[in-house]
Amino acid sequence: MIIAVDGPTASGKGTIAKRLAEHFGIPHLDTGLLYRAVGRQVALNGGDPDDASDALKACKFSDDLLGEAILRSEDTGSMASRVSVHPEVREALFERQRAFAMQPGGAVLDGRDIGTIIAPDADVKLFITAGVQERARRRWLEMTDRGIDIQLADVEADIAKRDARDINRSDAPLKAAPDALVIDTTSFNRDEAFETVLDAVKEAL
Ligand code: C5P
Repeated sequence: MIIAVDGPTASGKGTIAKRLAEHFGIPHLDTGLLYRAVGRQVALNGGDPDDASDALKACKFSDDLLGEAILRSEDTGSMASRVSVHPEVREALFERQRAFAMQPGGAVLDGRDIGTIIAPDADVKLFITAGVQERARRRWLEMTDRGIDIQLADVEADIAKRDARDINRSDAPLKAAPDALVIDTTSFNRDEAFETVLDAVKEAL
């Protein structure tokens, strides 16, 4: 069983994907982490994330990077969004994601292009979304909890910029697959969002 979970930043897709994987007892891959590792490696190399050749070189990152806390930072997220525009980078990361999706027993993958490019044959495709203000509020609360001093308006502006880059890129843009179940979590808390998704998945299987 392959479950594809796509959606914009801070939509709750990561948490939902993790909980679905636990529920069904199958492995989960947060594909955003791979792009984040490339973004981080570009920075470590002193390269330019907007340069395709620098970004491609950074695809040879060490897997140790995947466990580093800095990968979760907003700065790395922004670098990830910039390197992910290059088709060369997407191609370099394709096989690893595809192999994860195809493992016996199934998998849950979350990202931007799982239902459209990585696993168009997924058994269930979910597109998790929420309004930009609500997503900014969630991300801001998360950051404030971690002791980061930041204005809500700045978080919202950053999220809007990231959305625009992900939606408007020509290669594998963020969009719901035609057969995806679109779930808007704006008015749900985490548990409500998960229950709604789980019901939808059970119905679809
Ligand atoms: O999901 P996360 O915020 O960790 O992703 C970081 C960035 O990586 C996204 O803004 C997006 O540009 C890119 N990404 C992507 N395709 C994926 C996962 C992430 O382009 N499947």
